[in-house]
Amino acid sequence: MQRTDLGLIGLGTMGAALALNFAGKGYRIAVANRTPGVAARFAAEAGALAGNIVPAGGLAALVAAVTPPRTIILMVPAGQAVDDQIAALRPLLGKDDLIIDAGNAHFRDTERRIADNPDLLFMGIGVSGGEEGARHGPAIMGGGAQSAWNRVGPMLEAIAARHQGTPCAALMGPGGAGHFVKMVHNGIEYADMQMIAEIYGLMRDGMAMGAADIGAVFQRWNEGPLKSYLVEIAAAVALATDPETGRPMLDVILDIAGQKGTGRWTAIEAQTLATPVPVIEAAVMARNLSGATALRSAGVQKFPAAQSGITLSVEDLEDALIAGKILCYAQGFDMLAAASAASGWTLSLPECARVWRAGCIIRSEMLDHMAEALTLDPDSNLAVSETFSALLRKHERGLRQVVSAAVAGGHGVPALAAAISWFDLIRAPRGTANMLQAQRDFFGAHGFERIDGLPLHHGPWAAAAP
Ligand code: 6PG
Repeated sequence: MQRTDLGLIGLGTMGAALALNFAGKGYRIAVANRTPGVAARFAAEAGALAGNIVPAGGLAALVAAVTPPRTIILMVPAGQAVDDQIAALRPLLGKDDLIIDAGNAHFRDTERRIADNPDLLFMGIGVSGGEEGARHGPAIMGGGAQSAWNRVGPMLEAIAARHQGTPCAALMGPGGAGHFVKMVHNGIEYADMQMIAEIYGLMRDGMAMGAADIGAVFQRWNEGPLKSYLVEIAAAVALATDPETGRPMLDVILDIAGQKGTGRWTAIEAQTLATPVPVIEAAVMARNLSGATALRSAGVQKFPAAQSGITLSVEDLEDALIAGKILCYAQGFDMLAAASAASGWTLSLPECARVWRAGCIIRSEMLDHMAEALTLDPDSNLAVSETFSALLRKHERGLRQVVSAAVAGGHGVPALAAAISWFDLIRAPRGTANMLQAQRDFFGAHGFERIDGLPLHHGPWAAAAP
């Protein structure tokens, strides 16, 4: 039997879509699944692609089917399942064989797996784009050895999304770099979604707009600077009707958000790196608070509802979303730069932006401009780059007005507020941390630096004590 180009384990939604994508691009792929019969059924139902799909009854059969040196992709749930698969595969593989974990693994787990398996090649790659992306072209963020990427890069580029002909797949760096970039992608995904939700909330509750009108606004915005997958689907979901009740679909969906945790990981890692990503943190907070139902119903009983009739224009809202988005990405790229320095990855920020331009959930027109700006200004934060500082000057007023009106009217906009607060802190000529330093020195003799450089690092607190 003719051997296959690669193997894939885990035929859930994403694994199945990815396998069909490989098969459709002309690769022969062996597939296996934990539940017996799934792989055979999958191959039988693959229609015209069935000729490129070889179902394997178990791991040994899968390994035997793949041409050495083998490439085997794991598409199993993140966590223990990955460790279990590696442990089961290890005795069957040779030293040049490569295991690729294409799930949403924590990058530290990926680094541990590389360290724990020196006898085989291991890569962690982030794959974004949901089922549709996996089937027809995801964005792929590779992590691991250059030699391993040289081997599989062409295959991954072949199945990846393309932006004006350029594949959205690249090796981000060694070790856990690919999964790290995917994690930050997901954190940004949370933040983009949260800002859209906040703007939707202001239109719904502050401006008394119905879902259809809101959908039309998002549709219009999707033809301008905010053109992006998430704004596009915000329009689609706002315009959808519930087949059960005939009401707008959005109006019958419970306001409690789910999450698998990648946004939370981003917030935690940002704190560890001391590189704030407040818009992402606010988005994670808002998801968590959405589920605090007892607290929320107590709040509703104790306090009056937010005011309707706030005076904002749709243009102000669009400006706010543009500025919020720029600030959120400025934070996210800063976090990538900090992680790169801390881990010695030499991540290329323009490359991250380029890979995110198509295929992934946060794909947008603006990412193309971000890639350019980060290339021209590699050492400065996106917010202070030539192009984006000009855009911030243009759209900042809208963000400020929207946050002010929302706060005055009692509407929660944590992500947008976090964006403008970060902005105001980076643009303040003199911050307020001198007060923190004085207090730290007062109660703990922690010392401070002076503005005049004099070598006097403690205040005269004994004399000033209350
Ligand atoms: C992607 C997504 C995907 C993520 C879902 C759900 O890039 O395709 O980021 O990987 O798992 O969006 O994430 P939550 O369940 O945490 O919202």
